[in-house]
Amino acid sequence: MRDRRLYAGRNPARAVAIDDLRAMARARLPQFLFEYIEGGADAELTLARNRAAFDELRWMPRVLRPVGRPDLSGDFLGAPASLPLAVAPTGFNGLMWPQGDLALARAAAAAGLPFVQSAVSNEPLEAVARIPGLRHWQQVYVFRDPAAVERMVARAEAAGSEALVLTVDSNVYSSRPWDRRNYRAGTNPTRANKIEALRHLRWTRDLLRHGLPRFGNLDGLVPEGQTDIVGAATWLREQIDPDLDWDRVSWLRRVWPRRLIVKGLLHPEDAVEAAARGADAVSLSNHGGRQLDGAPAPVEMLAGVVAALDGRAPVLIDGGIRRGSDIAKALALGAHGVLAGRAPVWGLAAGGTEGAARALAILREEAERCAALLGAPRRDDISAACLHEPPDWAAGVSAIR
Ligand SMILES: Cc1cc2nc3c(=O)[nH]c(=O)nc-3n(C[C@H](O)[C@H](O)[C@H](O)COP(=O)(O)O)c2cc1C
Repeated sequence: MRDRRLYAGRNPARAVAIDDLRAMARARLPQFLFEYIEGGADAELTLARNRAAFDELRWMPRVLRPVGRPDLSGDFLGAPASLPLAVAPTGFNGLMWPQGDLALARAAAAAGLPFVQSAVSNEPLEAVARIPGLRHWQQVYVFRDPAAVERMVARAEAAGSEALVLTVDSNVYSSRPWDRRNYRAGTNPTRANKIEALRHLRWTRDLLRHGLPRFGNLDGLVPEGQTDIVGAATWLREQIDPDLDWDRVSWLRRVWPRRLIVKGLLHPEDAVEAAARGADAVSLSNHGGRQLDGAPAPVEMLAGVVAALDGRAPVLIDGGIRRGSDIAKALALGAHGVLAGRAPVWGLAAGGTEGAARALAILREEAERCAALLGAPRRDDISAACLHEPPDWAAGVSAIR
């Protein structure tokens, strides 16, 4: 990427593309935090693939079809959304901006989009779920301690969360080289990184004013005396359960009365199994390239999964959404909607609610412009027929065309 800091400055309102917000985030954040957002697992092959797969898709526009004002609003999992886009769950938002979860969720609410709160977020879900107008989806991991999951599920129900998003791709700890270089143990950055952080004056000033965030959403789950950031991180590592299996999905289905979305699968048979276990939607994901390196991009599995499910459950995807046209491409391959992780977090790090709102606005403007240029101004107009010779990997595209 060319360095956009010279062009974009510090004002997120002046960002014209997600890359500008990324450059602003890079300038404001200490290097170890920028790399925490940026990084993928191992050789980062999957991280790169998530982007490359979108770039390989080409459009087949149609002309002289009046497009008027393009509008991609409509139903998104049972309620209206201005665009079939949700903010993906991301941990540590509180380090990117003071009370970052609240700032990001406010931007989502203002944009009319659902916000998925990370299980390991810094703010308690109760504080986020009460933001006026917010569609609150709570992400959960199935921890080793069943009581801890039960507590989070009960809290989400009491707080009025609309959906639970069960992440199933993280029951084994992956290796992210940048994080391993940047932290000495757990979440403690190396001395060199702490010194480098001090050079980021705006970030340091915010940290001194507001203090280090805690894992506030784990309150009541982490044992007393272990609720500081290092203690809670240690507890979390111990809670990862490598023996997680499908019965836990069925269990969650029994105890959770509202929408259940299973996030983090890629194989069509896993998607069919999730639907059979009662998932209301599946969300194809490789965790933004942060778990199994070498896994395919969700977008390349999409059409095959849609064909395999044959209408049994709507399909969402995430991974590599950087432009509004990526959202349109996912719709063309049969997605019901998408989640974006890094794009809104760069906006958050660049400028809090304002920066995150700019990220969401850029994605919406770009998606609508793309739909208009395609001659497909409404969501229902966007289909596989809008794509020029879908590549071989778009298996199943003939089945959904
Ligand atoms: C900084 C960061 C933190 C994340 N934290 C979580 C998390 O707590 N829970 C989760 O299910 N996924 C988490 N993810 C994965 C995202 O929800 C999402 O799958 C991914 O970011 C999508 O790819 P994208 O960043 O290219 O949009 C995280 C991703 C990033 C980049």
